[in-house]
Amino acid sequence: MSKRIDVNDLNVYYSKFRAVEGVSINIEAKSVTAFIGPSGCGKSTFLRTLNRMHEVIPGGRVEGEVLLDGDNLYAPGVDPVTVRSQIGMVFQRPNPFPTMSIRDNVLAGVKLNGKKIAKSDADALVEKSLRGANLWNEVKDRLDKPGAGLSGGQQQRLCIARTIAVKPDVILMDEPCSALDPISTLAIEDLINELKNDYTVVIVTHNMQQAARVSDKTAFFNIAGTGKPGKLIEYNDTATIFSNPAEQATEDYVSGRFG
Ligand SMILES: Nc1ncnc2c1ncn2[C@@H]1O[C@H](COP(=O)(O)OP(=O)(O)OP(=O)(O)O)[C@@H](O)[C@H]1O
Ligand SMILES: [Mg+2]
Repeated sequence: MSKRIDVNDLNVYYSKFRAVEGVSINIEAKSVTAFIGPSGCGKSTFLRTLNRMHEVIPGGRVEGEVLLDGDNLYAPGVDPVTVRSQIGMVFQRPNPFPTMSIRDNVLAGVKLNGKKIAKSDADALVEKSLRGANLWNEVKDRLDKPGAGLSGGQQQRLCIARTIAVKPDVILMDEPCSALDPISTLAIEDLINELKNDYTVVIVTHNMQQAARVSDKTAFFNIAGTGKPGKLIEYNDTATIFSNPAEQATEDYVSGRFG
């Protein structure tokens, strides 16, 4: 089930360094939101706070609230492992378990969450997740072969299958296409477009065309200088951000006049 995310005045730290300051944003369910901005402005850092991955980094902490359909992920007593099963993440480099079979890769997240699952249910879940990731037809005859035997684009779709097998509410993607060729990139973009029927998707991208193609809303982050915190500068419908932004910095960034 797709859920909304509401962030209220979030500050994000690495020990004493405030990497991201004062972010408030409302992310709709069943939509695709793109995070854009220059390198080092805190896009990945902020993204990782949305499923409590930030705090696994030593010194990583946050102030403020992240609400998933109204429930604060940072409230006392909330289990971060449960949060990470509700809000899945896909990384820049496809990271399947290389020696594990394709089938077991799809089930890896489910097993990590300690769920026992009967063979027939597992088979059905593997097929459904691989179909959902647009990978089934390419791998259905070699489910017992290692994940490392797939192309980069296939591996990334395998990672997406692993993420959706857990049945999350939200899928976070940090530059999921940056290691992929243009054809695989378009395959992932098509997939993102389908995923938003069922999930809330947040994607970090450096590719302006990609943000324009896949997202409904775009958030532009920026930093005033080295050592300064990243901030959310502007957040709006993607069409508005690209054609008629309110801030000069946004205009400069999306038109490539930057730095
Ligand atoms: N593990 C870490 N420990 C300390 N500081 C970090 C850590 N990871 C990131 N930072 C710092 O936090 C700031 C934001 O980094 P972040 O990786 O979130 O930027 P980004 O917008 O994702 O950049 P890019 O577009 O290059 O991926 C940077 O100043 C970075 O050096
Ligand atoms: Mg990053």
